[in-house]
Amino acid sequence: MRAVVYHGPGRKAWEEVPDARILASTDAVVRVDTVTICGTDLHILKGDVPAVTDGRILGHEAVGTVQETGSGVTTIRPGDRVLVSCITACGTCRYCRQGQYGQCLGGGGWILGHKIDGTQAEYLRVPFADTSTYKVPDGVADEEILMLADILPTSYEVGVLNGGVRPGDVVAVVGAGPIGLSAITGARLFSPAHIVAIDLADSRLEAAKHFGADVTVNNTLHDPGEAIASLTDGLGADVTIEAVGVPETFELAVRLARPGGHIANIGVHGKPATLHLEEQWIRNITITTGLVDTYSTPTLLRLVASRQVDARPFITHRFALDEFAEAYDVFARAGETGALKVVLSR
Ligand SMILES: NC(=O)c1ccc[n+]([C@@H]2O[C@H](COP(=O)([O-])OP(=O)(O)OC[C@H]3O[C@@H](n4cnc5c(N)ncnc54)[C@H](O)[C@@H]3O)[C@@H](O)[C@H]2O)c1
Ligand SMILES: [Zn+2]
Ligand SMILES: [Zn+2]
Repeated sequence: MRAVVYHGPGRKAWEEVPDARILASTDAVVRVDTVTICGTDLHILKGDVPAVTDGRILGHEAVGTVQETGSGVTTIRPGDRVLVSCITACGTCRYCRQGQYGQCLGGGGWILGHKIDGTQAEYLRVPFADTSTYKVPDGVADEEILMLADILPTSYEVGVLNGGVRPGDVVAVVGAGPIGLSAITGARLFSPAHIVAIDLADSRLEAAKHFGADVTVNNTLHDPGEAIASLTDGLGADVTIEAVGVPETFELAVRLARPGGHIANIGVHGKPATLHLEEQWIRNITITTGLVDTYSTPTLLRLVASRQVDARPFITHRFALDEFAEAYDVFARAGETGALKVVLSR
């Protein structure tokens, strides 16, 4: 079979590798039908994720067809269409029993395309297949369900639910990439009064309007604090969602929240950010962080199947499975290409 193999910083290739096969009784082998690339894959290619070593197949998002199951797999069968999620769950450890699958102690968590071979391949081995796959509802296209492998549950759980978005809130979303746009999508389910999207790129702010932000601020040109003050009698946002992952945007997200407000950090940070406790101690703020757990995936599957959430606008570019080189190039140059999510299909 063929797969996207990582060969150290800046080097990857679509190349011939040994076929995926069952190694444990709880494994399944899935034929990859539709797959995408995550911003995290670009981080890996820069060498930012040292746990990913030479020879690793990349990718942690896919929809596919079950080919083979180990003797211990009971809920999926060859021929089933399944979502393969970014988080694998052993199902039995302390964290899995609490629905915190991202923190799995039993060999799960974020392992695909990280600690074990991932989804950017013709076939893949899925460990703990009963608790790490989701059957695709009839009548929903693979590429819509694919958005549930990572961006939609991440933004919903770590942004919207951790942030405690409520009806009538003013929600500020810092960063309007796929994650920020998903956070806007999730926040809308709670009928906020206003959603303010903040980004440096006008193309992303245009997308934010399309996804449901009613106010957009290019923070290279304007102070988002002023826009939010005018909507909140000078108080600040009820909830700010950080969806970039650099120190400035975390500090901005904290500054934009009102006293008693919530700051929900989604961004993956590579450098320390300053928490100005000398200003913030008196403001009763709540800051949350998180790796996605995917406990919301069944809910989001119902919302996509019933068209309460439309996952189609995330897909800006489509490729064939063997066009990974082009797909990575278009996705990496999102500023010029306008890419949100690129999808490769068999
Ligand atoms: N916590 C999790 O489980 C989890 C899961 C997936 C992704 N993430 C992280 O979420 C973050 C966002 O992911 P993405 O795929 O949307 O990334 P992206 O790079 O596509 O989007 C980031 C956006 O932030 C904007 N931006 C950059 N600097 C800015 C600044 N100073 N002010 C305002 N806007 C700025 C960019 O223009 C871009 O539109 C990343 O850090 C990613 O690693 C976290
Ligand atoms: Zn991802
Ligand atoms: Zn577990």
